[in-house]
Amino acid sequence: MAARAIAAALQLGLIDRLASTAEMAMENVASAIGAPAVGAHALAELLDGYGVVRLRPSGVSLTERFREALEFREYLELRLRFADLVWPDIQALFPFLLCSIPEFMARSRVFDLFRYDRCLTVNAEALQSARRWTELTTGLTRYEAPAALGRVDLGGVGDFLDLGGNTGEFALQVCRRSATTRATVVDLPVVCELGREHMARTAAAEEADRIRFLTADLRTNWALPQADLVSFKSVLHDWPEADAIDLLRRGAGQVRPGGRIMIFERAPLDLCRHRFTYAMAPDLVFLHFLRPAAAYVDTLSALGFQSIETFTVELEVDFHLILATRPI
Ligand SMILES: C[S@@+](CC[C@H](N)C(=O)[O-])C[C@H]1O[C@@H](n2cnc3c(N)ncnc32)[C@H](O)[C@@H]1O
Repeated sequence: MAARAIAAALQLGLIDRLASTAEMAMENVASAIGAPAVGAHALAELLDGYGVVRLRPSGVSLTERFREALEFREYLELRLRFADLVWPDIQALFPFLLCSIPEFMARSRVFDLFRYDRCLTVNAEALQSARRWTELTTGLTRYEAPAALGRVDLGGVGDFLDLGGNTGEFALQVCRRSATTRATVVDLPVVCELGREHMARTAAAEEADRIRFLTADLRTNWALPQADLVSFKSVLHDWPEADAIDLLRRGAGQVRPGGRIMIFERAPLDLCRHRFTYAMAPDLVFLHFLRPAAAYVDTLSALGFQSIETFTVELEVDFHLILATRPI
């Protein structure tokens, strides 16, 4: 209900109106959102209960905490959109999600959205359909990337290879932090095309010059350049464990001697410690694919990687950040 109340307040323009004023009288709230007094009051009371506004006899004002949260408005709206998309699946199919992931996947709307098999041939329909999910992944990565990259020393990273790098948002953030890094983003053809559009829209010319997109199907094509830093960001959880380990082995093979591999992935959900919120719905549907760090660390260790470090990064759920160096 908190999500619904916040989404309605955003959609009805109430949040914008409140953000630009210290306080609004209740009758002005009602006319601003085009609601009868009872509807406006219900919304204001709910928002007060959720700490979004303070409702006083004189009127309604945004709380300081929500004003601070509004700095991340784009992220807030994105998480609402993603959760709204996933909840119908959870409501209709939760027993399948718990008991039979193939049956859940076959019936769910969300897995029908992330159709990588429709990203192999570039045409208007494929671009349109991939745009719907790459907007979500790009938006999440915009806000998740700083939490990982703040802990990674990018000094000495000449070439960066981002495997399953989507629209290049992660690579862009690497290049913004490291002025001498050149990035190669590897992804499926349709996604690379959307990535070029994303760069044209969001990157400075000098940044876009350092980011190139390379189309490859990582199930079959590993004719890729080597790099000083190779990353898998939110990629391995898309694959069954044996395939994910195979991908990781191959990705590790792209690291130059002395270079590093970086894995940034959601950790298994800890549903006792974290109160499960509405916004966590998209994490829940990957329940079966979120693995302990050891699943990847053991592989890197067996490949002879050294200085293996694992950090826990707390976002809406815990993420693993794993860094390891290929011996010279
Ligand atoms: C969950 S998304 C994560 C994207 C990005 N790393 C991020 O964190 O925003 C997984 C990415 O893997 C890509 N992918 C899936 N199957 C692939 C394949 N066979 N070859 C190359 N890329 C693939 C998808 O197109 C998508 O961009």
